[in-house]
Amino acid sequence: MLCWEIELLFVFISHYCDLSKSGQGGDTWFINSAEQSLGYILADSGFDVWIGNVRGTRWSKGHSTFSDHDKLFWDWSWQELAEYDLLAMLGYVYTVTQSKILYVGHSQGTIMGLAAFTVPEIAKMISSAALLCPISYLDHVSASFVLRAVGMHLDQMLLTMGIHQLNFRSDMGVQIVDSLCDDERVDCSNLLSSITGENCCFNASRIDYYLEYEPHPSSTKNLHHLFQMIRKGTFAKYDYGLLGNLRCYGQLRPPTFDLSSIPESLPIWMGYGGRDELADITDVQRTIRELRSTPELVYIGGYGHIDFVMSVKAKDDVYVDLIRFLKENGWPSSSSY
Ligand SMILES: *[C@@H]1O[C@H](CO)[C@@H](O)[C@H](O)[C@H]1NC(C)=O
Repeated sequence: MLCWEIELLFVFISHYCDLSKSGQGGDTWFINSAEQSLGYILADSGFDVWIGNVRGTRWSKGHSTFSDHDKLFWDWSWQELAEYDLLAMLGYVYTVTQSKILYVGHSQGTIMGLAAFTVPEIAKMISSAALLCPISYLDHVSASFVLRAVGMHLDQMLLTMGIHQLNFRSDMGVQIVDSLCDDERVDCSNLLSSITGENCCFNASRIDYYLEYEPHPSSTKNLHHLFQMIRKGTFAKYDYGLLGNLRCYGQLRPPTFDLSSIPESLPIWMGYGGRDELADITDVQRTIRELRSTPELVYIGGYGHIDFVMSVKAKDDVYVDLIRFLKENGWPSSSSY
């Protein structure tokens, strides 16, 4: 029997978090009802759904040597998630199912995907990719809470203090949020909007339920890497400083991920929103320009960053077309199979 897979990776940007503390736990694909959540909808549409959970989330705390109390457990950013973890996860699914993979990602799942697809060994396992709120460049982020955290150098501050795990549920996390909110430009009465942009359509009566699952912890190094992207406008590897870069990469500046090296033959679909203050339209358009292929696009003016996974109307607004795309680009009827 042939199998058809979906790899789902994801970052949830939730109430008390900023870019980095974004969850990335796979549970978010199932957080609404079976009729509304993309994970269920894909399974009900006949896809074999595989869920990726990245390091540090509640579902991925294991390590052969370290515990999550160790500094080295948290010594990674999305770069390692793309180059090692995604390679391993996709390689596993590819080996088990003996078929190419349809990739679906949201937010950080798209950063990881776009970085990973520049690696031929990874790209060859993918038959098509659907990216929700696609991110490679971040210099037009306009979310006030995030900009305030960047402006006060939260990332460097935490690293200097020796805090390597970013957990906004901890006492320290709560204090950090309080201090970020102590600014008239940040509206913390609506923290979710201050972090992600105004979301039109998630189910407010489910907030307590969402908070049982989100946000998951992440690493401070990941926060720092994301903030480097915001500050510098690059889609590049982690910047260790001149000497560190020389040691790690053999050059003074971190190598960039070249979007034009993603194979032109890889079909890509993108869904993005007019109120998304993390995946800003200007940055999305730059990503599109730098790709060799021409992605299929679904633009929804009224959607913010988390509407794409949580909107109660996302099925009609977004997923119907996403599924059409996946079926046309990787299902048995399509020519490559
Ligand atoms: C919102 O969530 C509540 C509680 O889970 C549920 O009863 C209701 O049906 C949901 N509304 C929509 C429009 O999905």
